[in-house]
Amino acid sequence: MKEMRLFYTPVWQTNVADNEAEWTALRAAMLERISALESAGHGVQRTNFGGWQSDDDLYKHREFGWLTQRIMALANQVAPQFSAKASFDDGILWANVNRRGDFNAMHTHPDAILSGCIYLKVDSAEQGAIQFLDAREGSPTSHWRCYTRLNDSTPLTEQAVTVAPREGDILFFPGWLRHWVTPNMTDQERVSVAFNIRMN
Ligand SMILES: [Fe+2]
Repeated sequence: MKEMRLFYTPVWQTNVADNEAEWTALRAAMLERISALESAGHGVQRTNFGGWQSDDDLYKHREFGWLTQRIMALANQVAPQFSAKASFDDGILWANVNRRGDFNAMHTHPDAILSGCIYLKVDSAEQGAIQFLDAREGSPTSHWRCYTRLNDSTPLTEQAVTVAPREGDILFFPGWLRHWVTPNMTDQERVSVAFNIRMN
């Protein structure tokens, strides 16, 4: 039978460190700037419980010029999936630093078409992993196990998908997709940069 995919939810992933010869230096400069901003007392309180979140204007710092360009270029690779005429040309980005016990509560990015994150400093999923939640309103999947007594899941029936972080990995997802970040269970800090992309 032919299968039609209705209202599917894409999440795009690549690793920007793999093909970037300067990654080590670029990463070090970004981490240094984030550390300096935290030390200087900048930051906001949003979805983070514990941890530290920077202001959302990281793109104004020269250390993030390279990353901003990469994010926009990658975003425009998927822009045609939103509209044949789409061209992303505006975005904001901010840093998240989660230490032991810190996590990010469930949220969406309501002021963005496309959102995402990149991992600058992380060694394992125990430091915190992003989990996406079923976006289908009215979906029966939350009752799936009750209906069937089956204790498995497939891409059609699963309620939550966890994506393990890896240094240099970048994820893009629609701003309306609910997600949260599990607690950091280690003594190693976890540093990521999140972003919102818009069209003018
Ligand atoms: Fe988020």
